[in-house]
Amino acid sequence: MARIAHLSDVHFGRIAHDAVVDAIVRDVNTGRPDLVVVSGDLTQRALPRQYEAARTFLSRFDAPVLVVPGNHDVYAWWRPVGRLVDPLRRYREYITEDLAPTWRQPGLSVFGLNSAFGFTVKGGRVSARDRRAMGTFFEASPAGDLRVLVVHHHLARVEALGPHDVARNARATLAAAVEARVDLVLCGHLHISHIEPIEIVPAAHRLVIASAGTATSSRGRRHHRGSNFYNVVDVEPERFRIVERLFSHEISGFRDEVESVFERN
Ligand SMILES: [Fe+2]
Ligand SMILES: [Fe+2]
Repeated sequence: MARIAHLSDVHFGRIAHDAVVDAIVRDVNTGRPDLVVVSGDLTQRALPRQYEAARTFLSRFDAPVLVVPGNHDVYAWWRPVGRLVDPLRRYREYITEDLAPTWRQPGLSVFGLNSAFGFTVKGGRVSARDRRAMGTFFEASPAGDLRVLVVHHHLARVEALGPHDVARNARATLAAAVEARVDLVLCGHLHISHIEPIEIVPAAHRLVIASAGTATSSRGRRHHRGSNFYNVVDVEPERFRIVERLFSHEISGFRDEVESVFERN
């Protein structure tokens, strides 16, 4: 059995309140995951002090951390040259040089896909090169592994989330993910916690989309305005389980909110 803690949209610079940062570190470490995944938007404006706070935050987890950038992690609009030439320079400097991070352990393969570029709309985009790297990685995965893709932006429209962006090249990326037999996509960006299985009809493949809420910021949207969530994914041989954990002011900590269980493909 493997366990992943999935956080997203931490947004240092727009932290909801001090207690939530300590609470999430404590809660994640108590759950003893094998891997902590952070699906982008570590900062609010990609400023050095925000990146420093994000780096310190990531260092507080006991488990290894796999992280991808979000649209808020590229130079802000008032730094157009940096945004064009090397949009993720600070991300690489403060967080990691690895823009295609991977993780393997018995029963589990995880690939992180970058969807944050300089001059893209906030919907993001995925490059053909990264799509190929994803395919190559999963080709080498044992047949029984749960295949997990981490990406900040959405690759498909989910009706329950209301009108929303999808990444440029989302269709091609989703097709590549289906071809790679990806079971689970861990994403964020919309600041609404929601788990939904989608059936890819001609391919007869089911893919579960776990869209995490904002882990620590005040930027929750729609019915999750003012809420902070993260996901715990438990992988078993026959099924996997995703628990959305919600911050509760009453206990000044996180508690189970919704559990979704999926039989393995
Ligand atoms: Fe965000
Ligand atoms: Fe975002």
